[in-house]
Amino acid sequence: MIENTSPIIIGCDHAAVQLKNIIKDYLETGKGITVEDAGAYDDVSVDYPDFGKYVAEAVSIGRMERGILLCGTGIGMSMVANRFPGVRAALCNDIFAARMSRRHNNANILVLGGRVIGDVLAMEIVDTWLTEPFEGGRHQSRLMKFDRITVDG
Ligand code: RB5
Repeated sequence: MIENTSPIIIGCDHAAVQLKNIIKDYLETGKGITVEDAGAYDDVSVDYPDFGKYVAEAVSIGRMERGILLCGTGIGMSMVANRFPGVRAALCNDIFAARMSRRHNNANILVLGGRVIGDVLAMEIVDTWLTEPFEGGRHQSRLMKFDRITVDG
């Protein structure tokens, strides 16, 4: 499998700082991937939408190709991120979801739940997400279909 080594922007809230730091170190030290750390940096309570917005915006405008977001469950961060045009954020707290989020959904933001998964599983999920290619074809036309969805239909 060929691994995508383009830079990654990573962000979290207070509920997942520890796991965010572990993943950041794994990417930088273990894989030589440049990481932009958007915070949070400690366990002082913050609002996840502030950090989710920063990361999702960077991907949405094309400043970064991809990102990783973490909060307690991953649910809030995925809701925030998917409001941004061009963002395909996938909450993947297991390896199968991570694999399919790349193969079928071309996910450009991986979302993890820091209170749901442990360090080892998180690293396996990240590895899967980094290596699985998008299959394109019928999946590409489905992505294009929902990219055009508006409140009017
Ligand atoms: C913070 O307590 C928690 O609500 C947040 O990390 C996340 O799980 C939200 O979806």
